[in-house]
Amino acid sequence: MTLRLLTVVGARPQFIKAAALSRVFQEANEIEEILVHTGQHFDPNMSDVFFTELDIPKPKYILDINGGTHGQMTGRMLEAIEKIFISEKPDATIVYGDTNSTLAGALAASKLHIPVIHVEAGLRSYNRQMPEEINRVLTDCVSSVLLCPTRTSVENLKKEGITQGVYHVGDIMYDATLYAIDCLKNNQLLNKKFSFLPEKFIFMTIHRAESTQSEETLKKIITFSENFSIEHNLEIIFPVHPRTKKLIDKYSGFLSEKFIVTEPFSYFETQYCLSKASFVLTDSGGLQKEAYFHRVPCITLRTETEWVETVEHGWNKLWINDSYCPRKNISDYGDGNCAEKILNILRNVLL
Ligand code: UD1
Repeated sequence: MTLRLLTVVGARPQFIKAAALSRVFQEANEIEEILVHTGQHFDPNMSDVFFTELDIPKPKYILDINGGTHGQMTGRMLEAIEKIFISEKPDATIVYGDTNSTLAGALAASKLHIPVIHVEAGLRSYNRQMPEEINRVLTDCVSSVLLCPTRTSVENLKKEGITQGVYHVGDIMYDATLYAIDCLKNNQLLNKKFSFLPEKFIFMTIHRAESTQSEETLKKIITFSENFSIEHNLEIIFPVHPRTKKLIDKYSGFLSEKFIVTEPFSYFETQYCLSKASFVLTDSGGLQKEAYFHRVPCITLRTETEWVETVEHGWNKLWINDSYCPRKNISDYGDGNCAEKILNILRNVLL
């Protein structure tokens, strides 16, 4: 029997996670995967580059839905994805993480009684001001198979009364990082491209709505990062997300010569820089863990994190805290075989 799975992706981190799982699906001949790209991220360096670099098959559907308010974006996606579900009749849908594309895919499927498989279930910041938190909570509520990256995420679901179909599988991003490290061995192209990197540097990213919602907040983040770079005598490599760029362009003069500003990096480029960085400063969820995968200390430019084990094990701290916890290895994320574990669960549950 063949299992027809419809995967919904739309934003940069989802391309990376889906690539890691699709690679394993392609080797399993009982899975047929149909890929839908909502179009939430659309610039070539936010989307196409990931498909090329990670060998992701061309999506069967590209919806080109982006911009507008959260309600508009999610609503338009919901309507378009529902039509695809009705015509494709998949056995289940796979959604990743916490974006508007995740919620739209999960809602459309659940209303049609199509089982929802949520990769990265159970993460919580307990900050309902974040659009991502609303997306996570609602997606988990309608999911049938909840694939948790950490033990804390399993516990978070239990507190909300969700115990059925919950599995701790580790972090699919760790699978992806190991794959990248393997591909990057002796990569002369990247060695050449990044010959401009200082010997030691800070790697920084900012994209969240809360970080970029006002000039004041963004300035606070920039000032903190600049002071940190002066204190450590390091420059900052800063690939800028389009949302952040809009604000920086509006208030020109934001950034001092400590910042080396670039276009967004591809996945391999990011992993390359992380492997050489001395510190990571970020508001991204993914980068907090990737910093750990490369054993680089991280400062999260937020007042809370969903990835609490990175803080508890001393590899990450919130910018409002003074010091790191004692440093230990993190076992929660698994050993790079999250995709295989997911495949086995789907075989048992759905076939
Ligand atoms: C989204 C997700 C966030 C995830 C992040 C990964 C939601 C609510 N947020 O945030 O959970 O961590 O993706 O990067 O779904 N833009 C461009 N070009 C692009 C992409 C976006 O110009 O290729 C612009 C958009 O038009 C918008 C802004 O950047 O004005 C923000 O994009 P959006 O998709 O709303 O959210 P992200 O901040 O990327």
